[in-house]
Amino acid sequence: MRNRFFTFVGLTGAVLLWVSCAAKDPRDTGVEYAPQMYHSIPLEPYSQMDYYTYTPQGKHLIEPVAGTVPVGKIDYLYPFPNTNEGYEEAGKKLRNPLPKTPENLAEGKRVYEYYCIHCHGEKGNGQGSIVVAEKFPAPPSYYGPQLKELPEGKMFHSITYGKNLMGSHASQLTPEERWKVILYVQALREAGLAEEANAAKSAN
Ligand code: HEC
Repeated sequence: MRNRFFTFVGLTGAVLLWVSCAAKDPRDTGVEYAPQMYHSIPLEPYSQMDYYTYTPQGKHLIEPVAGTVPVGKIDYLYPFPNTNEGYEEAGKKLRNPLPKTPENLAEGKRVYEYYCIHCHGEKGNGQGSIVVAEKFPAPPSYYGPQLKELPEGKMFHSITYGKNLMGSHASQLTPEERWKVILYVQALREAGLAEEANAAKSAN
């Protein structure tokens, strides 16, 4: 009798153990003995909707409201594709809509110090702190041969999509902030070129 009792307890334990651990997917809840208690009646917003059907008003549920910017879509309203042709076109056609006011420059400097300075350096010569620490190869100087004539449209394009080792900044910076930081990059470039011209003069 005692033996049968222990066998029963042992077998029940083994079965329970198997039932509780049998699920392979870590998110699988396994056997649920009271599912109404785990799955609340309030639904997750829109989880009951089929996104590909139209509402009675004829509107697509995930169609954004006109004039809003869908999250994660960087090139909304930005007409130049992330290709070499798009880059060249942007260089020719894109112009900074913001004037070079002290406020815009100051805001550009602030953005630069948050997002760019550690790579491009305080002066924009490519000697940022992570470059000096030898953690990252030096970006070209803004006033060196490669970038001193770079049009602002190409700057905007590269900041938007990223270029080689430089990542896209579209999710961190609004288009307006990108144009402000470009004003500051241009100011650094002018300062760098002026400094070089002075150095060349005093060397003669
Ligand atoms: C992780 C380091 C890093 C950060 C952060 C970074 N850059 Fe760059 N940037 C680079 C490198 C490297 C290049 C050179 C890309 C190439 O031509 O291969 C570059 C290139 C550029 C160019 C030239 C683009 C072109 O079309 O040739 C501009 C302008 C520029 N960066 C501006 C910025 C601005 C403004 C920020 C901040 C919003 C920024 N970068 C942040 C590394 C960085």
